[in-house]
This record gives sequence, structure tokens and C-alpha cells, in this order.
Amino acid sequence: EEASKKELERHPKDFRSKQLIKDAINENDFLKNLESAQVREIVDCMYPKNYNKSEMIVKEGDIGQALYVIAEGRLEVTKDSEVLGEMNGGTVFGELAILYNCKRTASVKVPSFGSSIVVCFQTIMMRTGMMRQAEH
Ligand code: CMP
Repeated sequence: EEASKKELERHPKDFRSKQLIKDAINENDFLKNLESAQVREIVDCMYPKNYNKSEMIVKEGDIGQALYVIAEGRLEVTKDSEVLGEMNGGTVFGELAILYNCKRTASVKVPSFGSSIVVCFQTIMMRTGMMRQAEH
């Protein structure tokens, strides 16, 4: 989860992608109270990345600054090697470490079986601004 120049730039994307990210944020209990300007910034700065079968996207216990939205595919959430659940397209993840300034609470990976096409939008988050809003 390296921070690069790419993470701080705006990335043009089609209407459908923008809508998917916006809807995902509005469906997330921790993010739905963000100001619309902040939501717009997240939407604009996110860029897509492809992941392969069995690939780990977020590792439990790591420090992380990135927020993710699944665009396509299915991901597995595990903690202490136990499967907590699955997430599908249109779902936000990685918000907890940013909002609570904690280590990643779980691992998120591409399953080792089934469809291998997984695309996630991601961006580095500015923690302080987001926390203030989420607390309201
Ligand atoms: P974060 O802790 O930053 O990184 C791991 C992410 O997995 C976490 O944010 C949530 O987005 C997600 N997550 C954590 N626990 C669960 C759970 N029990 N079910 C589904 N998703 C979870």
C-alpha cells in the first residue's frame, strides 16, 4: 500500500464508475455522513486496479492509508485465518483503519477458487477530514 503521486491525482472515469463509487460510500455506515464535497473528492481520486486469484489486497495488522471500492468480482474477508465473510461489487472496504487510526482489522483477499476477475477502485485517504465528518 505504497503512497505514490498517482494516489493524489484525479483520475477521470465514466459515469457508471463514479456512480458505483458514490453508491458504495453512501451504503457504508461509517462513510455515509461524509460531506458531498468529500465524497466527490474520493470519487475523483479513485483509480482502478486489477487483482489476481489468491492475491491479498489488505493484510490484517498492517498500517494502511488506502480506501477501496470493489468494482467487479468477489473478495473474502478473513481474520486469524477464519473467514468472516464475502464482499461483492459496489462495496467499500478498508475504511476502519483510516477512520479509527488503527491497524487493518482483517485481511481482504481474492478467493483462490472461482472467478478471478477482481477490480477495485482505490485512493489514499486524508484521515483527519474524514474522521471529523464521520463522527457527525
Ligand atoms: P480495515 O480494518 O481498514 O481493513 C480490513 C477491512 O475489512 C476493514 O477495514 C473493513 O472494511 C473490512 N471488514 C472488517 N471486518 C469485517 C467483517 N466482519 N465483515 C466484513 N468486512 C469486514
